[in-house]
Parts: sequence; C-alpha cells; structure tokens
Amino acid sequence: MKVDDRHYRSIWLDADGWSVAAIDQRKLPHEFVVAQLTTCEEAADAIRTMLVRGAPLIGATAAFGIALAMRQDSSDDGLDRAYQTLVVARPTAINLEWALEKMRATLGPLDPAERVDAAYARADEILEQDVAINQGIARHGLPLIEAIAARKEPGEPVNVLTHCNAGWLATVDWGTATAPIYLAHEQGVAVHVWVDETRPRNQGAALTAWELGHHGVPHTVIPDNTGGHLMQHGMVDLVIVGTDRVAGNGDVCNKIGTYLKALAARDNNVPFYVALPSPTIDFSVSDGIRQIPIEQRGAIEVTDMTGRTADGRVETVRIVPEGSPVANYGFDVTPARLVTGLITERGVLKPNRAALAAAFPERAGAVK
Ligand code: MRU
Repeated sequence: MKVDDRHYRSIWLDADGWSVAAIDQRKLPHEFVVAQLTTCEEAADAIRTMLVRGAPLIGATAAFGIALAMRQDSSDDGLDRAYQTLVVARPTAINLEWALEKMRATLGPLDPAERVDAAYARADEILEQDVAINQGIARHGLPLIEAIAARKEPGEPVNVLTHCNAGWLATVDWGTATAPIYLAHEQGVAVHVWVDETRPRNQGAALTAWELGHHGVPHTVIPDNTGGHLMQHGMVDLVIVGTDRVAGNGDVCNKIGTYLKALAARDNNVPFYVALPSPTIDFSVSDGIRQIPIEQRGAIEVTDMTGRTADGRVETVRIVPEGSPVANYGFDVTPARLVTGLITERGVLKPNRAALAAAFPERAGAVK
C-alpha cells in the first residue's frame, strides 16, 4: 500500500540480498523509520518489542529470522535453536508457530549446506502467499460492502468500524480487515472507517489511521468506548476486525476490546465480521476462551503514553498515579456465537468447525 504515494510493504529483503528491512512500527505515526534485521536474535527482538506486530507479519518476520539464523549456523542444532528462540517471542498469534513449522518442514530434510538458500526462498514464498491470501480476503469481503452501498444514496459512505490494526502494516501488504476496504475504495465504492484508538498501545490511532490516511481512505479516529454509542445511532454499517488466532470452534481471539465491540454489535444488529488468513486458524484449539494463551504485557504500556509535543519532539509521559497496580491483557476472545461471518481467502464462512474444516480440509487434518 502507499506511503507518500510510494508503494511499500511492511517487510522486505534488503538490497544487499540477505538482511531484512522492516518498517519500525514503534515509531509511527511520528517518524517513518526502516529498521535492518541482521540476525535471528534481532528478528526475535523485533517481534518481542513490537517493532513488527500483527499476526501475519509476526509469522513473516519469524520466517526471515530462520533464514538469518541459517547464515550463522545451518546445522540441525542451529535450526532447532532458531526455532526455539523465535517461537516464544509472542504467545497469542498462531501465525508465528505456523510460519516456523513451514520453515522447519522445508529445511529439516535438507543437507545443511543447502539450507541458507532454501530458507530465503521459503520465507519469500510465505511473504508472497500472505499478499495473495489478503487479496483473496479483499475479493470475498468486497460484496459485503457493496451490498450495503447498494442500499444507500449514491455517494453516501458505508461506515465500517475496525479495532486495532489489521491493516497492511500488520501483514506483508493489503491487511486482512482493511483488504476489502482498500478494494472498495479502489473500485470507487464510498467507504468511511471508524478507527478505534485501541488502548493501551494505540495501534488504531497510530497505525490504522496513518495507513488509511496515506492511502486516501476517509476515516475518523474514535476513543475505544465510542463504538456502542455510534451503533445505537445507526452510524456503523458493519464491523470488520482481524484476528490473532481462530479456534476450531470459530471463537476469535483478537486485540483486547474486540469482544466488547462484538457485544455492542449484537445488541444493535450490526454485522460483525472477522477477516482472517487461513494460517490464523488453529484447529488444535477447540475452545478459544479457555485454551488460547492471552499475552500479558508490561505495565508501562498502560501507565505511559507517547506523543508529539507542540514543538515537534516525541515524548513519553506518565498518566497513571505512581504506585497504582495495572493489568495489561493484550487480547480477548469473542465467542463464535457473536461472529456474523469469517472472511477468508476461500470465501465468507460460518464461524464453526464444520465450515472451517470444509473450506480448509488440508489444515483441519493437521495438528496446527
Ligand atoms: O498486539 P498486536 O498489535 O500484534 O495485535 C494485532 C491484532 O490484534 C490484529 O488485529 C491481528 O494480529 C490481526 S492482523 C491482520
């Protein structure tokens, strides 16, 4: 997608042919900085510190992390160590383990001397697959927006509410929740996006607003608690969110606060859709609420906020009294019964095991 009219992806192989370039998402929206990752440890650190974030991008970064590791040590031990270093970088998004499993399945049977080239090639495939999947999500999600547009006056926008950032920054390109929105915008369907700020890290205010703005998509940033009010007043036509893991039973894990939006949507008869690439499905989990590990992050994300001062400096300030305890759960689980449909690269599915397994039989048979 576009940054200042230039096409970017969130991550790419650098011009040197081996190091990895990634947009440093901790710096947005105030500074556009491209970081260089040169080792497996740096890739793991980028995931841990959220230099890169978003389920599909975490997976793509881990794939490159394995490739970087192979340059240093392509033995069986080296592969194993790299896998173990990366898999614990963040716990909730299953795309991390999915990508690492793909890398291990490709590299494991090979002679160590062949592993560096094979790792870069497989990582590249994972990146390209992500883009193709998201374009599929765009195609299948577009009719949902078009159907609402058809019921409106010409030019009256379809109002989509989204939470967190499931945009192109969270993937390699296009995003998941944003993919149908970008396609609708490209095809001249009027859309307007309500962007939840998404405390505590403000991925909506900082990232979704930034990317929609650069791409010219009309949007409005709202405090997290505003969605219910807007829905009561007919100001939201549909909700589209992303996800970090969809359980086999259709339960959806996503950024903390998603569940409350789903409750408000149900109470107001607003359709609640989840956009997901198939690597986000975890058939081994049968009960999302009880079985998906929920990341808890540091208190500092809640106690402190970073922004730009009037004179242009980026500063961090404390907003919570010293000594007040803080809880920082990164994700919550929306039960399948609150989900209208799952927008996947193979169509819009009912949120249940039968529909998921029928659409992705090759995944349903595997453990993850
Ligand atoms: O903590 P984050 O910023 O990695 O959380 C990201 C989300 O919750 C996204 O909605 C999810 O990863 C889907 S990204 C296409």
